[in-house]
Amino acid sequence: MAKKMIAGNWKMYKNNSEALRLIKQLRNRLEKNPARKSKIVICPPFTALSLAAKELASSRIELGAQNIFWEEEGAYTGEISADMVKSTGAKWTIIGHSERRQYFKEDEKVINRKIKLALKKKLKVIFCIGETLELRQQNLTKDIVTNQVEWGLKDLDPAQLKNIVTAYEPVWAIGTGKTATPDQAQEIHSFLREIIDALFGAGTGQKMTILYGGSVKPDNAEGLFSRPDIDGALVGGACLDASSFMKIIKAGEGVF
Ligand code: PGA
Repeated sequence: MAKKMIAGNWKMYKNNSEALRLIKQLRNRLEKNPARKSKIVICPPFTALSLAAKELASSRIELGAQNIFWEEEGAYTGEISADMVKSTGAKWTIIGHSERRQYFKEDEKVINRKIKLALKKKLKVIFCIGETLELRQQNLTKDIVTNQVEWGLKDLDPAQLKNIVTAYEPVWAIGTGKTATPDQAQEIHSFLREIIDALFGAGTGQKMTILYGGSVKPDNAEGLFSRPDIDGALVGGACLDASSFMKIIKAGEGVF
């Protein structure tokens, strides 16, 4: 089984003492876990990044933010820059999450700017895409993800793709308990590799890590991970509890 990547998106959960507790629990569990095949990234809120980085200094868990602003710096009250994130010790940032698109009106152009800036600042990117239920019902899933990839990755050169992971997250599956079936996810993941090949050259799609996200839980992770084009998961709700996140990590390592 190829190495999987399991990323946890904490969203707006966990104050600093709760964050510390969860990280300690994860570290303890991972130290007891002999299989060490997966890449693990956690994305706590900005406020917990520095303490998380300290706590994870000698751990194999990597750290990411959930967002950055599109400008390098300036008078943007309340925003957080890529440099600020980098200075906490985080190596990753999520960009284009559907909650950012929906509640903060982030469009493809904004997402493209953020991706370019993150790469410039040497942050790796988890680039989220996915269709709404309405679009799926209209049979437009492939059109929408094509558009999201074309715009999101616009002007990048193929060499930059190695610092980008794509997360296919159907909006109707996020936080709803409705997961895409392994077949549905596999179909889009393999289609995404074709789009990337068409945009960046043959073979680039195959090299891209493509995660599935949307109600990934311990009991459905194994089925998803068994599909050839599903390289791992971006986990929301189930990453807030050390035991369920660990079970998903183990499913990715083929350990039950
Ligand atoms: P969920 O969230 O696992 O709670 O559905 C996934 C995500 O938003 O990345």
